[in-house]
Amino acid sequence: MKFFVDTANLEQIKEAHALGILDGVTTNPSLVAKEGIVGKENVMAHYKAICKIAVGGDVSAEVISTDYESMVKEAKSLAAISGQIVVKIPMIKEGIKAIKYLASEGIKTNCTLVFSPGQALLAAKAGATYISPFIGRLDDIASDGLALVRDIRLILDNYHYRSQIIASSIRNPMHIINCAKMGVDVVTSPLASILGLLKHPLTDSGLEKFLKDAETFNK
Ligand code: E4P
Repeated sequence: MKFFVDTANLEQIKEAHALGILDGVTTNPSLVAKEGIVGKENVMAHYKAICKIAVGGDVSAEVISTDYESMVKEAKSLAAISGQIVVKIPMIKEGIKAIKYLASEGIKTNCTLVFSPGQALLAAKAGATYISPFIGRLDDIASDGLALVRDIRLILDNYHYRSQIIASSIRNPMHIINCAKMGVDVVTSPLASILGLLKHPLTDSGLEKFLKDAETFNK
């Protein structure tokens, strides 16, 4: 399973990369705005900086237009930043058309804001490189985010679609574990949930005892 970090914060991306397990980064307009980035040139420069840190990994950058022509134009300028860029396209009618065209041009896409199996089926059919179901946002409204991921896994496998699932809107380490059990291709997560996977009290107490018992070894 690939690990992406879901942030536009350069320090967090550096920290995730230093762990040695980072395969890529996803951003969205809200995450970029949170970093205080203002103006098109600065936004583009920020994506470039992310690509440099996430050496060789895929970096999702989202279009902010909603009609076909503008999305394609924006996608082309985002893709020109680096071969690592994956263009995030919203799951709307014009978005499906854009994904189909961009796939034919060899531009990688990530169909975002996916909340139903039917939406995922359309994105796969259009040739999206990645499909992003939002688990946490469904859970937030008392719907079952993991059930959606399970349905999408089944549909993609039934027809051998090549689109990869990016489990998104991750809220806790258990989301990551459950996604891994279902065989999702990628989980994109805040760094805190990735670090949460490290934790176990028996590891901490076990290590404490081993180190105490080894106190005489260097004497
Ligand atoms: C997906 O790529 C999105 O950036 C992200 O996972 C959304 O998560 P949120 O629901 O925590 O905003």
